[in-house]
Amino acid sequence: MAKENWKPGTMVYPLPAVLVSCGASREEYNLITVAWTGTVCTEPPMCYISMRKDRHSYGIISRTGECVINLTTEALARATDWCGVNSGRDHDKFAECGLTPEPSAVVSAPSLAESPVSIECRVNRIIPLGSHDMFLLDVVNVAADPKYIDKSGRFDMRAAGLISYCHGEYFSLGKVLGFFGWSVSKRKISRR
Ligand SMILES: Cc1cc2nc3c(=O)[nH]c(=O)nc-3n(C[C@H](O)[C@H](O)[C@H](O)COP(=O)(O)O)c2cc1C
Repeated sequence: MAKENWKPGTMVYPLPAVLVSCGASREEYNLITVAWTGTVCTEPPMCYISMRKDRHSYGIISRTGECVINLTTEALARATDWCGVNSGRDHDKFAECGLTPEPSAVVSAPSLAESPVSIECRVNRIIPLGSHDMFLLDVVNVAADPKYIDKSGRFDMRAAGLISYCHGEYFSLGKVLGFFGWSVSKRKISRR
C-alpha cells in the first residue's frame, strides 16, 4: 500500500531531549527542556536550539548570550519532562527537581551537575523562523563527567544511560546495531 501523505509537519525523530541551563545569577538560573536541538557544524563546533519567544528561558538566553546544553539520562527523565511543562517564571526548577547548578568552565550560565555531558555555548545569532527562533550556538567548552571516561580516555556514552525523545515519548537507548563504518569494516561489533 502507498504511504499516506500528511500535511507538512515535524517528524524528524528520534531526537535528544536536552536540559538547557541558563541565567547569570542564582536567582535567575533556569532549566528548559528542548527537543529542537542538534549539531550544525563540526569545525567550528556549533549547535542550535530552537525556542518559542514566550519561553522564560528565551529572554534569559537572548539577554545573557549564553547557555549550556546538558545531555539527559534515564535518571533525569522525570526532571526532563517536568522542566518542559513548568516555567521558570513560577518555579525554581533546580530546587524543585532536586538538581544542582554548578559553575561552568567558560560561560556564566550554570551547568547541570547531574548531567554526564554539559556543552557550554555562546549565542552566535538568533534566526527568526516562525513559531520558533533558532539560536545558533558556538560551543565554547564541553564538560564530561570523568565517571564515564574509560581507561583509554574515551567517553563511554553507553554507560551514561542517555535518553531520546520520539513522537511524544521518552526512550532509553536500545541495543547497539553497529558502529560508524561497520558496513565496510572487518572489526566485530561489541555488544557488551
Ligand atoms: C520533551 C519536550 C521538548 C520540548 N522542546 C522544546 C523546544 O524544542 N523548544 C521550545 O521552545 N520548547 C520546548 N518544550 C517546551 C518548554 O520546555 C516548556 O514550554 C518550558 O516550560 C519552558 O520553560 P521556561 O518558561 O522556564 O523557559 C519542550 C517540552 C518538552 C516536554
